[in-house]
Amino acid sequence: MQISLDKHLRDSRIEHDLRYLILKIASTSKYIHHAMQTGDLGMAGTSNMYGEEQLSLDVLSNQIFVKELEDCSYATCLASEEMDEMCKIPSEKKGKYAVVFDPLDGSSLVNANFSIGSIFGIYNSDEIIGLKGDDQVASLVVVYGPRVTLIYTARKGVHEFILNAVGEFILSNEDIKVEKVAKHFSPGNLRAVASEKKYKKLMDHWMNGEYTLRYSGGMVPDINHIFMKGQGIFTYPGYKDAPKGKLRLLYECAPMALLMEEAGGMASDGKKRILDIKIEALDQRTPIYIGSADEVKIACKFMS
Ligand code: F6P
Repeated sequence: MQISLDKHLRDSRIEHDLRYLILKIASTSKYIHHAMQTGDLGMAGTSNMYGEEQLSLDVLSNQIFVKELEDCSYATCLASEEMDEMCKIPSEKKGKYAVVFDPLDGSSLVNANFSIGSIFGIYNSDEIIGLKGDDQVASLVVVYGPRVTLIYTARKGVHEFILNAVGEFILSNEDIKVEKVAKHFSPGNLRAVASEKKYKKLMDHWMNGEYTLRYSGGMVPDINHIFMKGQGIFTYPGYKDAPKGKLRLLYECAPMALLMEEAGGMASDGKKRILDIKIEALDQRTPIYIGSADEVKIACKFMS
Protein backbone atom coordinates (compact mmCIF):
# COMPACT_ATOMS: atom_id res chain seq x y z
CA MET A 1 0.00 0.00 0.00
CA GLN A 2 1.23 3.48 -0.82
CA ILE A 3 1.46 5.85 2.15
CA SER A 4 0.99 9.53 1.42
CA LEU A 5 2.69 12.30 3.37
CA ASP A 6 -0.68 13.23 4.87
CA LYS A 7 -1.33 9.68 6.08
CA HIS A 8 2.18 9.39 7.47
CA LEU A 9 1.78 12.64 9.44
CA ARG A 10 -1.63 11.52 10.74
CA ASP A 11 -0.41 8.05 11.69
CA SER A 12 2.57 9.63 13.45
CA ARG A 13 0.13 11.82 15.42
CA ILE A 14 1.79 15.05 14.38
CA GLU A 15 -0.02 18.04 15.85
CA HIS A 16 -2.87 19.25 13.61
CA ASP A 17 -1.49 22.68 12.60
CA LEU A 18 2.04 21.38 12.20
CA ARG A 19 0.71 18.65 9.91
CA TYR A 20 -1.11 21.19 7.75
CA LEU A 21 1.91 23.46 7.70
CA ILE A 22 4.16 20.63 6.47
CA LEU A 23 1.55 19.70 3.85
CA LYS A 24 1.35 23.35 2.74
CA ILE A 25 5.13 23.50 2.29
CA ALA A 26 5.03 20.22 0.36
CA SER A 27 2.29 21.37 -1.99
CA THR A 28 3.97 24.75 -2.54
CA SER A 29 7.23 23.04 -3.48
CA LYS A 30 5.44 21.76 -6.59
CA TYR A 31 5.06 25.36 -7.82
CA ILE A 32 8.76 25.92 -7.15
CA HIS A 33 9.61 22.83 -9.16
CA HIS A 34 7.45 24.10 -12.02
CA ALA A 35 9.05 27.57 -11.87
CA MET A 36 12.47 25.95 -12.01
CA GLN A 37 11.60 23.88 -15.05
CA THR A 38 10.02 26.69 -17.01
CA GLY A 39 11.17 29.99 -15.51
CA ASP A 40 13.72 32.65 -16.28
CA LEU A 41 17.26 31.67 -15.25
CA GLY A 42 18.58 35.23 -15.42
CA MET A 43 19.56 37.62 -12.66
CA ALA A 44 16.91 39.59 -10.77
CA GLY A 45 19.11 42.71 -10.55
CA THR A 46 18.85 42.70 -6.74
CA SER A 47 20.99 41.26 -3.93
CA ASN A 48 20.14 39.58 -0.63
CA MET A 49 21.32 40.63 2.84
CA TYR A 50 24.65 38.85 2.28
CA GLY A 51 25.33 40.95 -0.80
CA GLU A 52 24.84 37.92 -3.05
CA GLU A 53 23.17 38.69 -6.37
CA GLN A 54 19.74 37.13 -6.59
CA LEU A 55 18.52 35.10 -9.52
CA SER A 56 14.97 35.76 -10.75
CA LEU A 57 14.28 32.22 -9.58
CA ASP A 58 15.44 32.99 -6.00
CA VAL A 59 13.11 35.97 -5.88
CA LEU A 60 10.20 34.10 -7.42
CA SER A 61 10.61 31.05 -5.15
CA ASN A 62 10.70 33.32 -2.12
CA GLN A 63 7.57 35.17 -3.27
CA ILE A 64 5.71 31.91 -3.81
CA PHE A 65 6.56 30.47 -0.39
CA VAL A 66 5.86 33.76 1.40
CA LYS A 67 2.48 34.18 -0.24
CA GLU A 68 1.35 30.62 0.49
CA LEU A 69 2.65 30.65 4.07
CA GLU A 70 1.24 34.11 4.84
CA ASP A 71 -2.21 33.01 3.78
CA CYS A 72 -2.28 29.55 5.37
CA SER A 73 -3.01 30.65 8.98
CA TYR A 74 -0.44 28.33 10.53
CA ALA A 75 2.53 30.72 10.76
CA THR A 76 3.37 33.46 13.27
CA CYS A 77 6.28 34.87 11.32
CA LEU A 78 8.45 34.04 8.34
CA ALA A 79 12.16 34.51 7.86
CA SER A 80 13.89 33.68 4.61
CA GLU A 81 17.43 33.76 3.37
CA GLU A 82 16.17 35.95 0.53
CA MET A 83 14.59 38.62 2.80
CA ASP A 84 16.37 41.26 4.87
CA GLU A 85 13.77 41.26 7.62
CA MET A 86 11.38 38.91 9.28
CA CYS A 87 7.80 39.04 8.06
CA LYS A 88 5.26 39.08 10.91
CA ILE A 89 1.89 37.57 10.05
CA PRO A 90 -1.05 39.93 10.73
CA SER A 91 -3.25 38.83 13.66
CA GLU A 92 -6.22 37.74 11.50
CA LYS A 93 -4.03 35.18 9.73
CA LYS A 94 -1.68 34.36 12.58
CA GLY A 95 -1.02 30.73 13.53
CA LYS A 96 1.39 28.94 15.91
CA TYR A 97 4.67 28.44 14.10
CA ALA A 98 7.69 30.52 13.12
CA VAL A 99 8.84 29.26 9.73
CA VAL A 100 12.39 29.89 8.51
CA PHE A 101 13.56 28.86 5.08
CA ASP A 102 16.01 28.96 2.26
CA PRO A 103 13.58 28.87 -0.68
CA LEU A 104 16.13 27.68 -3.23
CA ASP A 105 19.46 26.58 -1.83
CA GLY A 106 22.12 26.11 -4.48
CA SER A 107 20.17 28.06 -7.10
CA SER A 108 23.36 29.02 -8.95
CA LEU A 109 23.55 25.34 -9.98
CA VAL A 110 20.23 25.43 -11.86
CA ASN A 111 21.68 26.41 -15.23
CA ALA A 112 24.16 23.53 -14.93
CA ASN A 113 21.10 21.32 -14.35
CA PHE A 114 22.36 20.06 -10.98
CA SER A 115 20.07 19.14 -8.10
CA ILE A 116 19.04 21.90 -5.71
CA GLY A 117 16.60 22.20 -2.82
CA SER A 118 14.40 24.12 -0.39
CA ILE A 119 15.17 23.95 3.35
CA PHE A 120 12.73 24.66 6.22
CA GLY A 121 13.00 24.94 10.00
CA ILE A 122 9.83 25.23 12.11
CA TYR A 123 9.63 26.61 15.66
CA ASN A 124 6.61 26.76 17.96
CA SER A 125 7.21 30.44 18.63
CA ASP A 126 6.39 34.06 17.82
CA GLU A 127 10.05 34.96 17.68
CA ILE A 128 13.28 33.52 16.35
CA ILE A 129 16.09 35.54 17.88
CA GLY A 130 17.19 34.04 21.18
CA LEU A 131 16.11 30.50 20.26
CA LYS A 132 18.41 27.59 19.41
CA GLY A 133 18.16 25.07 16.58
CA ASP A 134 17.17 22.56 19.25
CA ASP A 135 13.92 24.50 19.67
CA GLN A 136 12.77 23.39 16.22
CA VAL A 137 9.70 21.18 16.32
CA ALA A 138 10.28 20.04 12.75
CA SER A 139 12.51 20.55 9.77
CA LEU A 140 12.29 19.45 6.18
CA VAL A 141 14.07 19.55 2.88
CA VAL A 142 12.75 19.25 -0.66
CA VAL A 143 15.27 18.01 -3.23
CA TYR A 144 14.65 18.94 -6.87
CA GLY A 145 16.71 16.45 -8.85
CA PRO A 146 15.93 13.78 -11.43
CA ARG A 147 13.13 13.09 -8.93
CA VAL A 148 11.49 15.45 -6.45
CA THR A 149 11.84 14.11 -2.92
CA LEU A 150 11.01 15.46 0.50
CA ILE A 151 12.52 14.43 3.81
CA TYR A 152 11.03 15.59 7.07
CA THR A 153 11.42 15.13 10.77
CA ALA A 154 8.89 16.16 13.38
CA ARG A 155 11.20 14.65 16.02
CA LYS A 156 9.81 11.17 15.36
CA GLY A 157 12.45 9.90 12.97
CA VAL A 158 13.41 10.99 9.45
CA HIS A 159 11.26 9.95 6.51
CA GLU A 160 11.56 10.38 2.75
CA PHE A 161 8.77 10.82 0.20
CA ILE A 162 8.85 10.89 -3.61
CA LEU A 163 6.58 13.08 -5.70
CA ASN A 164 4.63 10.75 -8.00
CA ALA A 165 3.10 11.34 -11.41
CA VAL A 166 -0.20 12.60 -9.99
CA GLY A 167 1.42 15.11 -7.66
CA GLU A 168 1.36 13.18 -4.36
CA PHE A 169 4.30 12.73 -2.03
CA ILE A 170 4.51 8.96 -1.35
CA LEU A 171 6.60 7.35 1.39
CA SER A 172 9.82 5.91 -0.05
CA ASN A 173 12.09 5.52 3.00
CA GLU A 174 10.87 5.32 6.58
CA ASP A 175 13.03 5.95 9.62
CA ILE A 176 16.26 6.75 7.79
CA LYS A 177 19.42 6.04 9.81
CA VAL A 178 22.97 7.31 9.36
CA GLU A 179 25.74 4.94 10.46
CA LYS A 180 28.58 6.09 12.70
CA VAL A 181 31.36 5.41 10.21
CA ALA A 182 31.63 7.16 6.83
CA LYS A 183 33.09 5.94 3.56
CA HIS A 184 32.12 9.05 1.57
CA PHE A 185 33.26 12.63 2.13
CA SER A 186 31.84 15.85 0.80
CA PRO A 187 34.29 18.70 1.40
CA GLY A 188 32.74 22.14 1.01
CA ASN A 189 34.98 25.22 0.85
CA LEU A 190 37.97 23.18 -0.27
CA ARG A 191 39.75 26.43 -1.12
CA ALA A 192 40.21 26.82 2.64
CA VAL A 193 43.04 24.25 2.56
CA ALA A 194 45.25 27.03 1.20
CA SER A 195 45.13 28.90 4.51
CA GLU A 196 43.86 26.30 6.99
CA LYS A 197 46.50 23.63 7.52
CA LYS A 198 44.14 21.67 9.78
CA TYR A 199 41.59 21.36 6.99
CA LYS A 200 44.34 20.23 4.63
CA LYS A 201 45.32 17.50 7.13
CA LEU A 202 41.69 16.40 7.42
CA MET A 203 41.48 16.12 3.62
CA ASP A 204 44.73 14.13 3.56
CA HIS A 205 43.29 11.83 6.21
CA TRP A 206 40.24 11.08 4.07
CA MET A 207 42.18 10.77 0.82
CA ASN A 208 44.87 8.53 2.37
CA GLY A 209 42.08 6.47 3.91
CA GLU A 210 40.64 5.99 0.38
CA TYR A 211 37.30 7.55 1.19
CA THR A 212 35.10 8.20 -1.85
CA LEU A 213 34.50 11.83 -2.86
CA ARG A 214 30.86 12.81 -3.39
CA TYR A 215 30.43 16.54 -3.92
CA SER A 216 27.93 18.46 -6.04
CA GLY A 217 28.38 22.01 -4.72
CA GLY A 218 24.86 22.10 -3.30
CA MET A 219 24.41 21.48 0.41
CA VAL A 220 20.99 19.90 -0.10
CA PRO A 221 21.99 17.12 -2.52
CA ASP A 222 25.32 16.63 -0.74
CA ILE A 223 23.65 16.03 2.63
CA ASN A 224 20.75 14.15 1.05
CA HIS A 225 23.39 11.78 -0.33
CA ILE A 226 24.38 10.98 3.29
CA PHE A 227 20.77 10.18 4.20
CA MET A 228 20.28 8.00 1.15
CA LYS A 229 23.55 6.06 1.46
CA GLY A 230 23.25 5.84 5.25
CA GLN A 231 26.73 7.25 5.83
CA GLY A 232 29.06 10.10 4.87
CA ILE A 233 30.23 13.51 6.02
CA PHE A 234 29.75 17.04 4.68
CA THR A 235 32.02 19.85 5.84
CA TYR A 236 32.10 23.61 5.31
CA PRO A 237 34.70 25.26 7.56
CA GLY A 238 35.56 28.89 8.05
CA TYR A 239 38.80 30.31 6.71
CA LYS A 240 40.83 33.48 6.79
CA ASP A 241 38.45 35.58 4.65
CA ALA A 242 35.33 34.22 6.37
CA PRO A 243 36.06 32.76 9.83
CA LYS A 244 32.51 31.43 10.17
CA GLY A 245 32.34 30.11 6.61
CA LYS A 246 29.39 30.78 4.33
CA LEU A 247 26.50 28.64 5.47
CA ARG A 248 23.69 30.16 7.51
CA LEU A 249 22.79 28.80 10.92
CA LEU A 250 19.09 29.56 10.75
CA TYR A 251 18.23 28.71 7.16
CA GLU A 252 20.63 25.89 6.32
CA CYS A 253 22.64 24.41 9.21
CA ALA A 254 20.06 24.15 12.02
CA PRO A 255 17.32 22.43 9.92
CA MET A 256 19.89 20.01 8.46
CA ALA A 257 21.34 19.38 11.94
CA LEU A 258 17.92 18.42 13.32
CA LEU A 259 17.38 15.95 10.47
CA MET A 260 20.87 14.52 10.93
CA GLU A 261 20.59 14.06 14.69
CA GLU A 262 17.16 12.48 14.30
CA ALA A 263 18.77 9.97 11.91
CA GLY A 264 21.46 9.15 14.50
CA GLY A 265 24.18 11.36 12.98
CA MET A 266 25.90 14.48 14.35
CA ALA A 267 26.28 18.12 13.40
CA SER A 268 28.92 20.34 14.98
CA ASP A 269 30.51 23.72 14.36
CA GLY A 270 33.83 22.11 15.30
CA LYS A 271 33.35 22.65 19.03
CA LYS A 272 29.69 22.35 19.88
CA ARG A 273 26.41 20.99 18.57
CA ILE A 274 24.95 23.14 15.82
CA LEU A 275 21.60 22.76 17.63
CA ASP A 276 23.04 24.37 20.77
CA ILE A 277 24.12 27.59 19.06
CA LYS A 278 21.98 30.54 20.11
CA ILE A 279 20.36 32.39 17.21
CA GLU A 280 21.51 35.98 17.66
CA ALA A 281 20.88 37.31 14.16
CA LEU A 282 18.94 36.15 11.12
CA ASP A 283 22.06 36.23 8.98
CA GLN A 284 24.33 34.37 11.44
CA ARG A 285 26.79 31.96 9.82
CA THR A 286 28.53 28.91 11.21
CA PRO A 287 31.13 26.38 10.14
CA ILE A 288 29.61 22.92 9.91
CA TYR A 289 30.73 19.27 10.13
CA ILE A 290 27.71 17.03 9.64
CA GLY A 291 27.03 13.36 9.01
CA SER A 292 28.20 10.02 10.44
CA ALA A 293 28.84 10.56 14.17
CA ASP A 294 32.34 9.04 14.46
CA GLU A 295 33.47 10.88 11.36
CA VAL A 296 32.18 14.23 12.65
CA LYS A 297 34.13 13.62 15.88
CA ILE A 298 37.27 12.90 13.84
CA ALA A 299 36.75 16.07 11.77
CA CYS A 300 36.29 18.18 14.92
CA LYS A 301 39.47 16.71 16.41
CA PHE A 302 41.46 17.62 13.28
CA MET A 303 40.00 21.13 13.28
CA SER A 304 40.50 21.80 17.02
O1 F6P B 1 24.64 28.37 0.49
C1 F6P B 1 24.47 28.01 -0.82
C2 F6P B 1 25.43 26.95 -1.29
O2 F6P B 1 25.18 26.78 -2.65
C3 F6P B 1 25.37 25.59 -0.56
O3 F6P B 1 24.29 24.82 -1.01
C4 F6P B 1 26.71 25.01 -0.89
O4 F6P B 1 27.12 24.00 0.01
C5 F6P B 1 27.60 26.20 -0.86
O5 F6P B 1 26.79 27.33 -1.15
C6 F6P B 1 28.74 26.11 -1.84
O6 F6P B 1 29.58 27.16 -1.60
P1 F6P B 1 30.84 27.60 -2.46
O7 F6P B 1 30.31 28.59 -3.41
O8 F6P B 1 31.77 28.16 -1.46
O9 F6P B 1 31.39 26.39 -3.13
